[in-house]
Amino acid sequence: MPVTAVVGAQWGDEGKGRVIDYLAEKADMVIRFQGGDNAGHTVVNDLGLFRLHLVPSGIFRPTTCNIIGTGAVVNPDSLLAEMQTLAAAGVDLANLWLSDRAHIVMPYHIQLDGLEEAARGGSAIGTTKRGIGPTYSDKAARWGLRLGDLKQPEWLAERLEQVIPRKNVLLERYGAAPLDRAALFEQCMAWRDALGERIVDVLPMVRQAVRGQQNVLLEGQLGVMRDLDWGIYPYVTSSNPTAAFAGSGAGLPASQINRVVGVVKTYSTCVGAGPFPVELLGEAGHHLRELGEEYGATTGRPRRVGWFDGVAIDYAAWLNGMTDLVVTKLDVLDTLPELRICTGYRLGDQVLTHVPDTALLEMVTPVYESWPGWQQPTTACRAWDDLPAAAQRYLRRIEALAGVPITWVSVGAAREAMFLVTSNP
Ligand code: GDP
Ligand code: IMO
Ligand code: MG
Repeated sequence: MPVTAVVGAQWGDEGKGRVIDYLAEKADMVIRFQGGDNAGHTVVNDLGLFRLHLVPSGIFRPTTCNIIGTGAVVNPDSLLAEMQTLAAAGVDLANLWLSDRAHIVMPYHIQLDGLEEAARGGSAIGTTKRGIGPTYSDKAARWGLRLGDLKQPEWLAERLEQVIPRKNVLLERYGAAPLDRAALFEQCMAWRDALGERIVDVLPMVRQAVRGQQNVLLEGQLGVMRDLDWGIYPYVTSSNPTAAFAGSGAGLPASQINRVVGVVKTYSTCVGAGPFPVELLGEAGHHLRELGEEYGATTGRPRRVGWFDGVAIDYAAWLNGMTDLVVTKLDVLDTLPELRICTGYRLGDQVLTHVPDTALLEMVTPVYESWPGWQQPTTACRAWDDLPAAAQRYLRRIEALAGVPITWVSVGAAREAMFLVTSNP
């Protein structure tokens, strides 16, 4: 299928990076369609272990064209640091391109992210403090700067002249020092010198690939539960990680997306604040966090963990129009005697089977069903038939709740620990 969107089906950190790295074997192009360096996409392959923040996860395939798309926001310093790490590990970066229309995360966006979070006090969102919200806010308010502006110094100087006084008003209100326009301009010129040749109009490349029936992967950042419109607002990111936005962020019509792969892990995790009905606290939560090594790839924060949420997966499948599921981290549950799956949210005397808006979601308690564990290792399994019967039943239940077939299963972080399910009933 030529154009495939790969999206997070939960709260992020489902294993999108490892899935893209695997699928990119057959991809001619990978495009990150939204988000910024708030992403932490872990890839483990024969070159080592990498935590990618901005660079698309197809970068390890030398013949695959990797694009940071128009819908993404780019912190050039962070990107340059990431490129340096990758180059030092022997990764070929010749095929990395940046959309000239992608917005720049400026230093003042990062500063404002911190100041705004502090100002929210007890209701802080728990952002990654990478400046994502302020950058997308400026984009929508039309005060943003784009990568292409770096290559037009006169235009850039004019834009900075308009933008900086407004930012200074805001910074002054927070008691912060005003911005130095000349220093920012110089900073932009340094970014142009370092990245200029990679900043291009990506649309002709994308059109050619799609017209030529090449295999294109659209890489999502985060998961639907943190989507700006459909996630647990205001505890969300400032862009839309759902497949509906993948075409726009990448530069192709929605009608060209043939396949939507939802990445889901066998339990739930969430970094940052907001309602998380299936959350496991105390010793049970600690145990699952340790089993899954659930610590943020970008911030190192311990992830909140919980049982699999069947209500959220149904919501995610619908909103994304998923055609396939990849289930990751099956092996993490190998030792547990009993597993639970949430099939409804109790709200007063009702049981909801859909995700309500945030204020109501804060009030629900999960309704669980119990599943027996398999209590044997799955890490060496490389086919559906290798899996213990109890694991197969558990996965079939996830599939039924999503209403989407499982096409791949992952039983370890390494590239070879993911396999195609060929025996769908
Ligand atoms: P992403 O942001 O969606 O790309 O996911 P992250 O990289 O933030 O988090 C997924 C974590 O799980 C990473 O540490 C991966 O190396 C790891 N991982 C992915 N798939 C598997 C799997 O099947 N089993 C195990 N044990 N770890 C996995
Ligand atoms: P990947 O791509 C998990 C969360 C933050 C916070 C909210 C808003 O690795 O799945 P932001 O910095 O985007 O303004 O923060 O979203 N968040 C993530 N959680 N994985 C991520 O990325 C995340 N990116 C942002 O914790 O709750
Ligand atoms: Mg992550």
